[in-house]
Order: sequence, then structure tokens, then C-alpha cells
Amino acid sequence: MRTDTPQPVRLVDYRPPAFLIDEVRLDFDLIPTATRVKARLSVRRDGAAGEPLVLNGERLKLISVAVDGRVLATSDYEVDAEFLRIPNVPDAFVLETEVEINPQANTALEGLYMSGGRFCTQCEAEGFRKITYWPDRPDVLSRFTVRLEADKAFHRLLSNGNLMEAGEMPGGRHYAVWNDPFPKPCYLFALVAGELDVLEDSLVTMSGRTVDLRIYVDPGMAPRAAYAMDSLKRSMKWDEQAFGREYDLDLFMIVAVRDFNFGAMENKGLNIFNASLLLADEATATDLDYERIEGVVAHEYFHNWTGDRITCRDWFQLCLKEGLTVFRDQSFSGDMRGHAVQRIKDVKALRARQFPEDQGPMAHPVRPNSFLKIDNFYTATIYEKGSEVIRMLKTLIGAEDFRRGMDLYFERWDGHATTVEAFIECFAEVTGRDLSNFFAWYEQAGTPRVTIASRYDADKRTLELDLSQSTPPTPGQPSKRPLPIPVALGLLDSDGRTMAFDYEGAATDQAVIVLDEARKRVVLSGVDSDPVLSALRGFSAPVVMTTDAPPKDRYVALAADPDLFNRWEAGQDLARDLILARAAGKPDEIAEERYAEAVGRALSDQASDEAFKALILALPSESDLALAMRPADPQAIHAARDALRLRMALHLDDMLKRLHIGLQESGEFSADAAAAGRRALRNAALELMAINPRGDVVERAAGHYQASGNMTDAMGGMQALMLAGGEPFAEALSDFYARWKAEPLVIDKWFALQARDQGEGALGRVMGLTTHPAFDAKNPNRLRALVATFGAGNPAAFHDPSGAGYRFLADQILMVDGFNPMIAARLVDPLAGWRRYLPELGALMRAELVRIAGHEGLSKNVYELVTRALAESA
Ligand code: TRP
Ligand code: ZN
Repeated sequence: MRTDTPQPVRLVDYRPPAFLIDEVRLDFDLIPTATRVKARLSVRRDGAAGEPLVLNGERLKLISVAVDGRVLATSDYEVDAEFLRIPNVPDAFVLETEVEINPQANTALEGLYMSGGRFCTQCEAEGFRKITYWPDRPDVLSRFTVRLEADKAFHRLLSNGNLMEAGEMPGGRHYAVWNDPFPKPCYLFALVAGELDVLEDSLVTMSGRTVDLRIYVDPGMAPRAAYAMDSLKRSMKWDEQAFGREYDLDLFMIVAVRDFNFGAMENKGLNIFNASLLLADEATATDLDYERIEGVVAHEYFHNWTGDRITCRDWFQLCLKEGLTVFRDQSFSGDMRGHAVQRIKDVKALRARQFPEDQGPMAHPVRPNSFLKIDNFYTATIYEKGSEVIRMLKTLIGAEDFRRGMDLYFERWDGHATTVEAFIECFAEVTGRDLSNFFAWYEQAGTPRVTIASRYDADKRTLELDLSQSTPPTPGQPSKRPLPIPVALGLLDSDGRTMAFDYEGAATDQAVIVLDEARKRVVLSGVDSDPVLSALRGFSAPVVMTTDAPPKDRYVALAADPDLFNRWEAGQDLARDLILARAAGKPDEIAEERYAEAVGRALSDQASDEAFKALILALPSESDLALAMRPADPQAIHAARDALRLRMALHLDDMLKRLHIGLQESGEFSADAAAAGRRALRNAALELMAINPRGDVVERAAGHYQASGNMTDAMGGMQALMLAGGEPFAEALSDFYARWKAEPLVIDKWFALQARDQGEGALGRVMGLTTHPAFDAKNPNRLRALVATFGAGNPAAFHDPSGAGYRFLADQILMVDGFNPMIAARLVDPLAGWRRYLPELGALMRAELVRIAGHEGLSKNVYELVTRALAESA
């Protein structure tokens, strides 16, 4: 147990920095176990006279401090485990410090650490304080000059900005000096030193400047950076076209590292990536990997403007850069791969990660008010819901005004650290609108429930819509106010044809109704027949919507809604209702047949593409279904979902076989969206067949695996074999391992696949894998592949009635917390929603949370999450 009670940081306590640092010179003498860091800071007082200088610093061995060249005696300053305090400093002075750090011993992967024998850094959010004494907050912007010195075995010496100088030193050492002309907060600082190969390219920007592009990777891996390079170039061009944003330095570098806490990091001019989000070729990466690489390369690149040039005043403003940058990367991916399919995937991710968060103990506004560890707030709410809020803003004010507001934002705030208010103010100004009610989307947690009741009047040819909203309470926010919710809608006739109607005096076939009160009545006129309502098109707001429409309307939508999101959604709604009815012991077999038949028709639709069909074929996930069932019974959901899958497999047998044969590719591999869509549908067909593992299906799956010419199909084959289980699966597993044991990113897939195994005895096998020689909890990718995938992606096994799944996860959390608190905290989530489950399961989950909370020496990170999970609910 923690003996102290950590105090939260609160938004209302924000004060501007007392001192600014205009320039800094850092000198690194890089030695793995004893690196020396000398810092020379030009400090300027910006707050009240007489205030002491207070700098953050953790795990630093202080060697010396000097003010204006005078070395301080230990009585001139105070230093403890978190701060260096110097009273009596002038209003402007030069501060020089020297510290020693041990990158080799840094297992938290925050600050300066070693990965694969190379030095690298991760400073966001508060890691820079583990490198040197500094005001570690995003509103202190400084120009950095950095000198790196190391043994020549550390061949590449990289930091932000432009290379000014490099050369040899006596004793087999060498050095490089980098200067970044753009003032930046310390969280964007980066350095890398070590043996790396490089893939080089260049790009001419919109104003005609040539930018050198370099991607640094493990020796021998440069060819696998080609797709990331291509994605980078497309991102750079896209930001010029879509937002008028040009890259600003002459050099842009990306480095891939194997040990990395999250996905990637937008350090100015020197992005650092988890290798899993950078390296790809057809043999080792799946189509999903390609898709994510494209999206994350774009995301980090887009941060150059939304994050680096304009940064956050404080960490409560995190969505200012993250929500906005996710919105930008999603828009880019939509342009690259098709908007309908992209939108469905984005909404699936939002529902899988953000909706449960919003209904659990961690529910927080897009802009939170307090935290213990900011690391815990890199959440789906900040990122994904933050993006939804921007998307709604664009829907509400229109694309043109949205662009004008963005232009104003870039012009006004370039070079500054700012707030969400200042961002929204730009849109209020260009539109002349009062956006104060819109701002509530940033301040209010929880997912609004929207209901729509409709009544058709044949005599008046009107459709009366009765819309209402309410948001359930969340921790700390017991009562909620109405939000402005844009509801995009259209009407279909009973044959699925688009119907025109009159709204606000104009004829249209689609309208956006803004539901900005608790309840609103809207009348659509000129409606020729009793229509099928297609509401919340494109998922126009992050809400849970229910309507009073009968199931037959959903069949019309599934067959014909021109809004592809709603077409997909109609199928998901039908499937969800069928599975939940079955899980509640009331299966409707006739309706299940009808559903299978409708899916069959959707699959035969010549007009829609394969990627879309693959999405239609997939049933809602077990965790998605658990959100809709109170209390959730994971075993009943699992059984009911499998039963519907089996019915579909039987009903669609011929069609699935035809798809599996017909979509087989010959000829050259292409990673493009169309080819990926064909593979997705073919693998989905195989997977569905495998729910009914007769001999010929097992043979088909084994053949699929053996004939696979790329990792997508290899994994598809393995997945199907896993469903069938038994000897053929065991053989494929060992074949796969033998073939790929030298490729860490592929072995991660091998672990992750088994973590999702729902077969008999899976929990024991997953636990057994933690003693496999290739398992390494210190590598976040490997740990996530097995442990996080099990917790989040295998509900039936995780929620084993014995509680053994919970105990296993809790043991892993405590073990990992001993060396990497940020990663340990990320594993808590599957236990946090304990109140939503059957009471006997909830009690077992809660008991594990209590056990974790009582652990001696628990990190602040994990402490914050378990105490929130255990707190009385709102
Ligand atoms: N800012 C990064 C992004 O979204 C993510 C990030 C924040 C991060 N903190 C981190 C990555 C710590 C790795 C480690 O692009
Ligand atoms: Zn980001």
C-alpha cells in the first residue's frame, strides 16, 4: 500500500511559469551506465520578483550547479527526489547544471534509455525531468542546441533540427551538434544514438523547398521502411492541400525502436516510432499493419503543426493536439482508402475503447479537470472522442468555415502554447457564432443517449420527429446538461429508394438537425409515404441512439441505405438484438435465418466493395455486446454469438466457399485498399466457415495457411485453424514459430493469436506462454501481445468463472509495475469495468483490484486507476 496519498494536479490551479528559458545548450556524454548531461540555460524571470527558481528533476545524480558562472555551495539550493530549488536568483541569468544518469538501468522507457543497444528518448509527457533539471511543463518554449558525444560504435548521433557540426574525437569517440531553430517545449526533445541503417528520400514542398527525408531502422531493415516513407510523402502533400501546411525544416527524420511504451512520438523533426508501426513488407506485416502505419506516420507528421508549432499550455489541453491530430489523420486515411469504410472502422474503435471508458470509473471529459499521472490520460476519450468533437464542429459550421477557422488558428497561435478555448474562439470569430454551448462537449463526460420517435401523417404528408437526449451521470458529474448534437438524417421508401422532403423551407434529401435541448420536435414535410428513417448518418455524433423503428426498417437500410455507415449499422443492430435475445434465453430462430439471408444478399451486391462486405460479415464483438447487456454475462454472450455465427455459416455455406475460391489472388502482391479489401473478405469468409469445423473446412484452412503468400493470409489461416483447434492448429503454430522465430514483430503476432484463443483450456495455455523462452515482459510489444490482448480481446477466457483470468492479469500488473508503471497502468482497464458484470464475476474482479491497491510500493500510475475503479460510483 502507498503510505502517502498522492495529490491531484488540477486545471484550476494553473499558473503561468515564473521563469522562461529562451535558449538552452545541452551536452551529452553518452555512456550506457553513466551518461553525463551538462545544461546551460538562459533563464529569464517572467513572474513575481523574489520567487525561487524551481526545476523538476527525477532520478538525476546532481554533480554541480552554477549561476552566472559561480558554482553554488550545497547550502545555496535545495534538492530532493523531485525538485531543485534555488532561492535568490537574479531576473536574468545563466544556469549551468551537470547531472549523471543511467540509461541502461532505465526500464520505465521514459527519459533517456537503451533499446537494442541504442540510446533513445521518450519525453512526453513528463520524461524530460529524468534527463536534466528543467521546468518540465509544455508552456516553456526554448531554442535547443544539443551536442552529442559517444563511442564511434554508436554510429548515428541524432537530435532535433539541423545538423550544425560533426567530427571525430580522441579515444575512438565522435560528436555531432544539432540546432533546432523552432522554440519548443522540452517534451518534444529527442536524441538517438547507435547503429542504424537509413532509407533516404526527398520531397519538394509547395513553396519549392527540398526536404530530405530519412527513416532510420535496425541494420538490414531499410527495405521494410519503404511503405512508411511512401506514407510520409503522401502525408506531407496532403497537409499542404487539405490545410495549407508546409513542412518547415530542411530535414525530417523518423527512427524505429523496438522498446517503446506507446505507438509513436512527434518530436520536432525527429519522430520516434515503435518498430511495429513502421516496418512492413508483405511477408511479415498484415494489411491492418499497413493501414496503421499509414495512419500513424500521418498522425505524427501532422503533429508538426498541431502539436509542435502550436502546442498545449498545460496537459489538461492534451486534446488540443491529440483530438485534432486524430481528426486530421482520420481525414487523411479516408481520402487514401475510402471514407465509408474508414468511418466504420473509426466508429468501431471508438465504441470498443471509448464507450466503455465513458461508462466506467475512468470516465472523464475530453478536457479533464484533474489527474494524478498525466500518462493515464492518453485515453480513447482524449484521442478518439476528441476527434469526434472536431468532426461535429466541422459538421455544424460547414467545411469552408472550418477551414477558415483552422487558418486563423495557425496564424494566431503559431509559436505558442495555447488552450482549447483559444482554439474554439477562432471558429466563433470566423463564423460570428456563439459556440459556448458547443464547448460543453469538452467539459462534460459520458455518452449521450439519443432517442428518436417518429410519426407519419399520410394526410399532411409530414413526418414528425420527437428527439430527446440525456447523459447518464459519471464520476464527479452527477447531473448533465444537454449538448448540441448534430443528427444527420435522410429518408428511404420501403424499397430503399431515397425520398426527398422539405426541411426548414427547402427541399432536400439529407438534413442535419441540431438537437441542442433535452427534447425537440421537428416536422419534415412533403414526405410522400411512410418512410424508413436513416438517422445519425455517418455517425454524425458520438452518442448511443435508439429509435422506435421496427426491425423491417433495418432490413431496408441493410439492403439499400445510400449512407454506407447506416447500412452497416443496420446489420449490426439486427445482429446485436438477435445475440442478446439468445443470451437472455429467448432465441428467435426465424429472425436469425432472416438475418443470415439478408447478409447473404448484401454479400452478393455487385455495387459494394469487398472491404465493406467484410465489415458487413463481421458480427459485433463480444465486448461491444457486453456493453449492451446489464449485467453482462460473458459466457452467455460468447455462446449466443457463436450460435448465430454457426447459423450464418450453415446458411451461407455455398456463398462462403465461392468467396473463398473466387477471391484468391494470383500475381503480384499489392498493399492498396482494394487488394486489402479482397483479402479481408476472403479471410472473413474462411473464419466464418471455421465455426463449423468439418473435415473439409479444416483442410481448406490448412491449405489457406500453407499457400499464403503474405502475412495477412497466413494469419487468416491460423485464425481459422485456431477455431477448429486440435492437431492441425498445433502443427501450424509450431510451423509458424519455427519459420519466424528470428522476427520479433511476427512472433508478437504468434503470441497475440494465442491470447485470443477461445478454445477449451485457453486460459491455462496463455498463462503457460508467460514462461515461453520468447516471452519478455520488459518489451512492451511482447507484453501487450500476450497479456493486454488476453485481457481486452478474449472475454470468454478472461472472465473464466473461477476468477483465474482476473488473478493472472492482476499478477502481471503487479509484476510489470515494478519496472514500467506506464505500461502496468495500461493493463488495468479490463478489470475497471467490474460493476457492469454479473455480481459473482464483479466481486472477483473487485477483489483483484483491492489486492493490487494494497500492494506495497505501488506506482502512482496504477494507484490512480485502481482507486478510481474502487471508488463509490457517481
Ligand atoms: N504524443 C504521442 C502521439 O499521440 C503519444 C505519446 C504520448 C507517447 N506519451 C507517450 C508515445 C509516451 C510514447 C510514449 O502521437
Ligand atoms: Zn498524437
